[in-house]
Amino acid sequence: MKLLGIETSCDETAIAVVEANGDLESASFELLGSAIHSQIEMHREYGGVYPNLAKREHIKNLPIVLEEALKKASVEMEEIDQIAVTVGPGLEPALWTGITFAKELSEKYNKPLIPTNHMEGHIASVLLANSKLEFPAIALLISGGHTELVVLNGWKDKKIIGQTKDDAVGEAFDKVARMLGLPYPGGPEISRLAEEAREKKMDEFNVKFPRPMLHSKDYDFSFSGLKTSVLYYIKKHGEITPEHRQEIAREFEDAVVEVLVAKSKKAIEEFNPKTFIIGGGVIANKKIKESFEALVREEYPNIKLLIPGKSLTTDNAVMISIAGYLSLLSGEKLELKAQGNLKIN
Ligand code: KG4
Ligand code: ZN
Repeated sequence: MKLLGIETSCDETAIAVVEANGDLESASFELLGSAIHSQIEMHREYGGVYPNLAKREHIKNLPIVLEEALKKASVEMEEIDQIAVTVGPGLEPALWTGITFAKELSEKYNKPLIPTNHMEGHIASVLLANSKLEFPAIALLISGGHTELVVLNGWKDKKIIGQTKDDAVGEAFDKVARMLGLPYPGGPEISRLAEEAREKKMDEFNVKFPRPMLHSKDYDFSFSGLKTSVLYYIKKHGEITPEHRQEIAREFEDAVVEVLVAKSKKAIEEFNPKTFIIGGGVIANKKIKESFEALVREEYPNIKLLIPGKSLTTDNAVMISIAGYLSLLSGEKLELKAQGNLKIN
């Protein structure tokens, strides 16, 4: 069947057409066409995402993005079988624009709607390249709004075992970047500076930040304390030279990596997964990606590590189409309304 996916939970307006086949155990997907309009440039001016600005942009761009996606897929609206739309989690004013647009399409063309969970989308994104997923699986979801460890015994049996108590990883990257005078989104900027410090093997300032909750007995995370340590450090030192800034970025990134890897390792030891999935925009981070590749290669060679390509890790509608199909097959029925704090279950 052909699914149209619609995603407007944050600052990307995305629509995709995906061909889906098979049952829950053997579902396979082919991307027919996808279009995306990113608002990053606009939000950059304000240093972050403003929900009402995002809403206005989504409303303006949805019809344009739809036309482009259908054109790329060489598909007419009449040929679509189901419409999957993100209902949460995310910014509610932004989510509503996608839901309202999906409802209009559903009524106009008489197509059923599948309310879809954005975080399930991040997990399901790996199915485009891997049709058969071996369970149990663990998914680490790291994005601007979320930091979660999820255990899956199947698509119908998912459980969040750990999550952030305060800031999400991407959010911490963005906030620390702002403290260092770097533009939004800060993740890639911090990453670039940290790489520079590593390349030059700099160690002039001996910067040290804490590893929050590294040894806690649960799988939860906390990044707000780390962010505050960076703030105090910067305040204490006043004038920060470009070299000093590079070292701060590296130490911050190292602290984040250490915590993410340690918690994931703990979860692997307990749940013995066959598959480890990493989703969400933050996995674009080279250091994080390489650290997980090394972890699996060196310590758990029997685990299959799945990290989708960049176009599928940042917010997109391909993953919403895929998750929508799984949701349809598993009989999951979410409410058709914006749910800012929607959880996986
Ligand atoms: O998944 P995503 O595209 O949107 C959300 O659903 O939040 O993730 C965006 C987040 C931003 O916080 C951005 O700073 C972060 O991902 N990010 C990075 C990198 N590239 C993007 N964080 C660290 N290093 C990167 N290279
Ligand atoms: Zn996301």
